[in-house]
Amino acid sequence: MTNQLKQFIDDHLPKIEAELYNLVERIKAPESLKESMLYSLKAGGKRIRPLFVVAVCDLFHNKQQEAFTVGAAVEMIHTYSLIHDDLPSMDNDDMRRGKPTNHVVFGEALATLAGDALNTLSFGILARMENVEPTKLVELINLLSIASGAEGMVGGQVLDIDGESRRLDLPELEHVHINKTGAILRFSIESGAVLSNATKEERDALVEYAHHIGLAFQIQDDILDIVGTTEELGKTAGKDLESQKSTYPALLTLEGAKMKLEEHYNLAITALAKIEKNTSLLEDFASYIVKRNN
Ligand code: IPE
Ligand code: IPE
Ligand code: MG
Ligand code: MG
Ligand code: MG
Repeated sequence: MTNQLKQFIDDHLPKIEAELYNLVERIKAPESLKESMLYSLKAGGKRIRPLFVVAVCDLFHNKQQEAFTVGAAVEMIHTYSLIHDDLPSMDNDDMRRGKPTNHVVFGEALATLAGDALNTLSFGILARMENVEPTKLVELINLLSIASGAEGMVGGQVLDIDGESRRLDLPELEHVHINKTGAILRFSIESGAVLSNATKEERDALVEYAHHIGLAFQIQDDILDIVGTTEELGKTAGKDLESQKSTYPALLTLEGAKMKLEEHYNLAITALAKIEKNTSLLEDFASYIVKRNN
């Protein structure tokens, strides 16, 4: 990780996490439900998605507090997706972010409901932002709904499960990755552009960058499932092989997957060149995503 990126994370992570926890701690809900929601949120995680919202705002010298609120909302959606992804009916994982999964600790019913509650809370949080014009609020809520729902993450998760019982071809697998992982990352990047009044050209270039970042992120996730250890990953290594998932390494071999990763990294950097601003922080993010070991 570059010094610039490390400094950026050190400067912004505490505020991202404070906002995230505070928004959940203040809700009026059964204590067991809040405990279950906060358990998964506080278990850690890299916080890549909120960091992207803040980094894109930073590109436009936009220091508004709302970047942190949108970041908290997207991290809630992401955490909900992980709680559900780990359920016995889905990937059946018992470890996440270095801890026992939510359903192992709280049971399947509460884990499912904690995911549901994080999902719906995220939209309320966007709707209640006070210093964002109503048209922008509606646009952000619409974008998050598309990214996280049937046309985005949820749809991708359905196709991902199909990929356990039959071998997907490369275009199908790319489609899964774009939806199950790419859509939420795209929202993280595009929402920063919306909050910062980016021009159409800047926004298009950022969406193109996000497209390649999303694919690269999930390809590296698939690679790490094979080459990473459970200790490094904080989740059970080798799960994709065990469940015979269609993944990039399964389809293209490990070497082929690494080549695809490099291809998407290069295309992400090329997209940034279309923006007449200092995009070096976003370049650092791209390089971190392809080199990360957890
Ligand atoms: C894991 O996401 C699930 C995928 C979409 C690949 P992350 O690797 O961002 O998980 P955390 O948030 O750091 O735990
Ligand atoms: C998860 O993909 C994507 C979402 C949760 C939407 P994976 O199933 O590959 O994620 P991990 O490997 O369990 O983190
Ligand atoms: Mg999964
Ligand atoms: Mg999984
Ligand atoms: Mg995975």
